[in-house]
Amino acid sequence: MAPPDDFVVTPYEVKGRIDYQRLREMFGTQDLTPELLARLHQVAGGDLPPLLSRGVYYSHRDLGLLLDQYQKGSPFFLYSGRGPSGPLHTSHLVSFDLCRWLQKTLGVSMYIQITDDEKFWARSGLTREQTAYWGMENLYDILALGFDPKRTHVFFDSKSIAALYPLAIRVARKIPYSTVKAVFGFEPSTNIGLVFYTALQTVPCFWPSWAEDRAVPCLIPCGIDQDPHFRVTRDIAESLGYPKPSLIHSQMLPGLLGENAMSTTGDREDNALFLNDSAATVDRKVRGAFTGGRATVEEQRRLGATPEICSVWALWRTRFAKDDQEFASVTRDCRSGALLCGECKGRVLERIHAFYATHAEARIKVQDWAESTIVTEAPKPI
Ligand code: TRP
Repeated sequence: MAPPDDFVVTPYEVKGRIDYQRLREMFGTQDLTPELLARLHQVAGGDLPPLLSRGVYYSHRDLGLLLDQYQKGSPFFLYSGRGPSGPLHTSHLVSFDLCRWLQKTLGVSMYIQITDDEKFWARSGLTREQTAYWGMENLYDILALGFDPKRTHVFFDSKSIAALYPLAIRVARKIPYSTVKAVFGFEPSTNIGLVFYTALQTVPCFWPSWAEDRAVPCLIPCGIDQDPHFRVTRDIAESLGYPKPSLIHSQMLPGLLGENAMSTTGDREDNALFLNDSAATVDRKVRGAFTGGRATVEEQRRLGATPEICSVWALWRTRFAKDDQEFASVTRDCRSGALLCGECKGRVLERIHAFYATHAEARIKVQDWAESTIVTEAPKPI
């Protein structure tokens, strides 16, 4: 008998050392193969962004089908979201970075869902004021990555409910309680907000098709932990007359304390770099971060370090190496022992500080138009 899996991944819980290939098999998603990446590259042109070229995105559902349709002249829209439980940290940018790149290279529309209701239901420690507040703060950070104000639309659940509800009514009727109970592991004590919630996360997948009275394909870049919601979506799509959304899934990034996800649930503030951390805090967190280094300098020079387990290497990998060449040289010098952890941290810190400075400026500018992207009206009454 195979050993039991010692990890758990659902939208509401991530626990244990994740075996990502095994998780993909458990979820029944497809492997993001080099051939498929090459096709995406061919369609988009230019260079593939680091998150694709360095394997952070590794799984999908029906991406090939979406590209077929695109090449036949049927453009898709992008959809991703954020549950506003606190400030964003750098690993929350993974899905929005890919969306921004796709919007820029292909000129497609983007729909962002901010689920201030979901986080209130899912996290008993948060007040409504807090989830609403973080919802707007998170939205500024997301838009500041460079989304096009004319092609970006936001469903901020508590403010957009009138726009979502006519479709949510239909979606909810298709989802039996037994399905959400099995998919999310709900208990008798789970509040009924969460029981309904997956209907709301489904609505944006169908919303443009509903509004335009034609099948508009949807691509969702997201962490693989969100896949269970969209398995439900895909199961009911056809019965409502809408196309099944395609997905592209990323791995979760390792936390700075060496945990397998940059989660900060509880009091592990130092596990992540928050976008509202001061420069001094960023310095302290990176200087204290878990690495793949050896116990002594002498040993490290002699034996080299292990990038794959290092949280600082993960920062280079996902965002801060300027190109694949620099990323390859950081990796090589780490493994050979030529690059020691202190120097490596100093170098990545320069990049992080530069990114925070640019981001802070962009964030101020988006506040002029962020509110105007929030969709408040349904395209039709029924
Ligand atoms: N449930 C997600 C979270 O907890 C938020 C979300 C809503 C989302 N819609 C989405 C994430 C679409 C990815 C794709 O963060």
